[in-house]
Amino acid sequence: MHRTDISAMTLLKIARMGHPVLINRAEEVADPTSRDVRSLVENMVETMHDASGVGLAAPQVHVAKRVIIFNAPKGREEADGEPSEFAPMTALINPEFEALGEETALGWEGCLSIPGLTGAVPRYTRIRYRGFGTKGEQIEREASGFHARVVQHEIDHLDGVLFPMRMTDLKLLSFNEELKHFVAGQTEIEDDLEAGEE
Ligand code: NI
Repeated sequence: MHRTDISAMTLLKIARMGHPVLINRAEEVADPTSRDVRSLVENMVETMHDASGVGLAAPQVHVAKRVIIFNAPKGREEADGEPSEFAPMTALINPEFEALGEETALGWEGCLSIPGLTGAVPRYTRIRYRGFGTKGEQIEREASGFHARVVQHEIDHLDGVLFPMRMTDLKLLSFNEELKHFVAGQTEIEDDLEAGEE
């Protein structure tokens, strides 16, 4: 059902690295079903789509609350050549995750708060995450590959952690326009990971 509320959506300003809201811990949401939270989520979705992102955390729009949104698009290729797991647009309130196993993999990440840069970041390859939806429903899923990566990236934002802070090799931090030099680097990156396993 559609409401005819023309003032419902607002594009929010995205905080960039250096703003304190991005390096502080965000607060738990007391009532995931509140109007404020629903309107925050709607505006975050609008803002994320406008910026062509796949995930966004509330601190990135200057709101220090534990709210994230994300999706995992269909048909992305994982490092092992398999198609990536699909996840629908999801809003998670007070999210948490646990690793399923010790395995990590390096993968390229960007961040709307660090425009123009991409870095290779180690993340758990399989996780279980949970949180609440805006109707107060509990959401619990297992995720792998890119789906698991985006959730870990967004939950990090709630703890004041930006992707470069997770990087184990800053030589793999690049301006987007220079990423082409790493084309042959996929192999190099895997070698690095095997060599430098944590
Ligand atoms: Ni980010």
